[in-house]
Amino acid sequence: METVVSGIRSTGKLHLGNFYGAVKNFVQMQNEYNCYFFIADYHSLTTHPTPADLHSNVKQVLVEYLAAGIDPDKATIYVQSDVPEIAELYLYLNMNAYMGELERSTSFKDKVRAQPDNVNAGLLTYPVLMAADILIHKATKVPVGKDQEQHLEMSRTFGNRFNRLYKTEYFPEPFAFNFTEKLVKVPGLDGKGKMGKSEGEANAVYLSDEPEIIRKKVMRAVSDEGPNEENQQKPEPIQNLFDLMKIVSPTDTYDHFDSLYNTCAIRYGDFKKQLAEDMIVSMAPIRERIKEIASDETYLREVARFGAIKARESASKTIREVRQIIGFKSF
Ligand code: ADP
Ligand code: TRP
Repeated sequence: METVVSGIRSTGKLHLGNFYGAVKNFVQMQNEYNCYFFIADYHSLTTHPTPADLHSNVKQVLVEYLAAGIDPDKATIYVQSDVPEIAELYLYLNMNAYMGELERSTSFKDKVRAQPDNVNAGLLTYPVLMAADILIHKATKVPVGKDQEQHLEMSRTFGNRFNRLYKTEYFPEPFAFNFTEKLVKVPGLDGKGKMGKSEGEANAVYLSDEPEIIRKKVMRAVSDEGPNEENQQKPEPIQNLFDLMKIVSPTDTYDHFDSLYNTCAIRYGDFKKQLAEDMIVSMAPIRERIKEIASDETYLREVARFGAIKARESASKTIREVRQIIGFKSF
């Protein structure tokens, strides 16, 4: 059976982009593949969280994974820092990753722009740690959103380079994957680009947002003065709202508003109201489960402990074999 690995950085609450871009696929995949889903807390250190925030953010993502339907009896759910073998593989892979290729990564360049006062080496080697996350379980399939494609390409590069260097075929090639063959990009509410935590509070709708908050955010989403020609192309902010509707609403609702737009009869107030209600309905079961699971500390402790044991079984086997391939021997 093929192995799937994916993770999300523990930097706060999950939003609809994380859910539709990644976690929804996790839930589908756990029935068909050998799945490892983790909370990327080593990765979160690149932004220097305080000790108090670190733990509460890990808990938040764990709770939301479970609320979204990841089942610890089907998939291995674990916290990255519970598996120190990942850090060891990261060290080995770092020896074969070159400054030039790391500096050229789009996400590194974005981070340098976003946090010019904290350009730490962890940011530079982020794609190496991500490769270690994936290669530690010799995964071939990685459910992620479109923005992660370049990282996956780098993971293949590092795995292949290791294979070439040590004349082995040890690591398989991992590819970004979801069931529709097309990676999803969920737009934000600010009229430009994708939904993301770092694009400001008002841009993202979180899984844990109460209905009233969702209504407020959607009603304030960027739009324009409306179409003035039949069948005109939709400008980005409007296209984004339609894309969101395509994700959360039934097809006939989408078609209804699309034809109103095309005949210049659309009223954005009604359109946004409908979009907000459909978001609320689609997220309601998850929102309820978040509250239940968050208060069950015993269950969370059990899930994390059980996940760490299973993940370390697989990771320690890889590390044993990698050490042998590299040539470490004990006296
Ligand atoms: P953020 O961009 O909010 O910081 P992360 O970078 O932690 O989110 O992303 C975690 C996962 O969610 C990744 O697999 C990423 O591809 C996916 N993801 C994040 N935002 C979106 C989006 N707007 N559309 C689709 N997938 C997304
Ligand atoms: N880089 C991913 C993101 O920003 C998170 C991540 C870290 C990841 N390690 C991974 C995703 C391994 C898939 C596999 O969203």
